[in-house]
Amino acid sequence: MDKEGGSLRVADNSLDIILSGLRRFPDVEAPNLQAWDATDKLLLETASELLTPDSRIAVIGDRYGALTLGALAAYGVRNVKVHQDLITGERALRNNAAVLKIDSGFAQLPLGAALFDDVDVVLLQLPKTLAELEEAADAVARYAAPHTVLLAGGRVKHMSLGMNTVLQRHFADVQPQLARQKSRILIARDARTVTGPAPFPVADRSSELDLTVCARGAVFAGTKLDIGTRFLLRYLPDMPAAGNVVDLGCGTGILAAMYARSHPESKVTATDQSAAAVDSARATAEANGLAGRITVLQDDAMGSLPDRSAGLILLNPPFHLGASVHAGAGIKMFRAAGRVLMPGGELWTVYNSHLQYLPALERFVGPTRVAGRNAKFTVAVSTGRSERAVP
Ligand SMILES: C[S@@+](CC[C@H](N)C(=O)[O-])C[C@H]1O[C@@H](n2cnc3c(N)ncnc32)[C@H](O)[C@@H]1O
Repeated sequence: MDKEGGSLRVADNSLDIILSGLRRFPDVEAPNLQAWDATDKLLLETASELLTPDSRIAVIGDRYGALTLGALAAYGVRNVKVHQDLITGERALRNNAAVLKIDSGFAQLPLGAALFDDVDVVLLQLPKTLAELEEAADAVARYAAPHTVLLAGGRVKHMSLGMNTVLQRHFADVQPQLARQKSRILIARDARTVTGPAPFPVADRSSELDLTVCARGAVFAGTKLDIGTRFLLRYLPDMPAAGNVVDLGCGTGILAAMYARSHPESKVTATDQSAAAVDSARATAEANGLAGRITVLQDDAMGSLPDRSAGLILLNPPFHLGASVHAGAGIKMFRAAGRVLMPGGELWTVYNSHLQYLPALERFVGPTRVAGRNAKFTVAVSTGRSERAVP
């Protein structure tokens, strides 16, 4: 790495070597799923014009560590603070760092004041939703020093003018850069003064559910009731009363809250891999007087729950992995449910009927029947086997 005129340059192809060695593990891996994209590279290359080895960087939304480890190993930056929403991403970054023999120079932090303390440049992988961008932009403007520059990058096909508008609400100067390899960077400077309390989590009253739903920016469906979740809730009266119940992939915790409220005798765990989701579920439980009844846990597919410990699992599985439609995320949860269900316990799953999950539920969980179908969704009930050889 050479330092020339206040910017950093990679002397060889070290960034490409680092990126090509990255893995997504423990997130789902498949030949068509990558651990980094052209935006990571463009963000680092654009940032290198602004950085010196002494620059302090904060990274938001580093999926598997490309930005953090690229800055440290290819550009020789000494200090990176990083926030990742998913626990799988945090673990992947640590695994990738170990392979690269990087054991210092980075700190993994929540999206809060400590992340931006003493930072010069913030690198952001643009998120899927404007609400998530709103929360990130607010945090940078609120906590980072006024000289801090934000570089927000994304794939052009996933970017919208709404993203510029969100950034302009928080920064006086927002400059879109020329696109390269189908990615584009927005450079934001001169943060506007922030007043008032942090805007997230937001809370909305659902009159349909008679429930207050709380949501951080990155959580699935925001404060809205997803139509698949609504369909699964129709079957609440048919679900068994169980001692230990898990809302797997809890999002805002609507399923956990609705079950806990109708079954005061049950212990309910709301668990998700996303920090924004578990914060939201915790806030939803508190807002509805259910905090003592619902345990909230950030975890990857119930990895820390014991085998055969749950009498009932409720699941509205994801069918996306990042921006790609992929069955792997759902299958991972079915396998986990097969392990964590007690013999005779039940997994209630709602899914878009075209996904045809029944064979996978039979295989990974146990005998499965259809409890109901509408034009779009199926609700399936799978019963945990007494003898288990997890396939
Ligand atoms: C379709 S959303 C459902 C959210 C909520 N249960 C609802 O019905 O509104 C799926 C959720 O699964 C979570 N998820 C995906 N993969 C996961 C994993 N491996 N472990 C835990 N949660 C996961 C996502 O973060 C997301 O919140």
